[in-house]
Amino acid sequence: MSRLPTILFTLVVALPALAVGDTAAQAQDPVRHGRALVKQFCARCHSVTRRGRSPHADAPPLRHMGRTFDLDEFPHTLERGISSSHPAMPEFKFDHDDARAVRAYLRTIQQ
Ligand code: HEC
Repeated sequence: MSRLPTILFTLVVALPALAVGDTAAQAQDPVRHGRALVKQFCARCHSVTRRGRSPHADAPPLRHMGRTFDLDEFPHTLERGISSSHPAMPEFKFDHDDARAVRAYLRTIQQ
């Protein structure tokens, strides 16, 4: 009888805490988190590193984005939803933290 609360505690408190711990680790390192997001969502078309051509011929390498976009404003754009007039590019929306993480990473590759 007395063990039940322990088991419940483990399930209800400890397990979700593990999951949250993971997110907290990402939040501590926005650049790493941003790089993962950009790789997952953008790399199929854009070059997302300091060198190399974009897989999609029309997609500009994201390292040049700072030339045409104000990176300070870019998280707002990502939160509102970014799309392009180009039919190949789907619309993306990021939450507050992810949008800032994407910008943090993009800053590290600008040329
Ligand atoms: C399916 C392919 C595809 C994916 C995935 C994609 N894009 Fe694009 N993106 C394009 C293409 C093609 C263009 C060129 C659009 C044009 O010329 O109007 C573009 C243009 C852009 C531009 C405008 C660049 C400029 O200097 O005018 C930005 C910013 C951009 N993409 C950001 C992103 C981000 C951030 C992601 C990931 C969240 C992403 N894109 C994912 C295909 C893609």
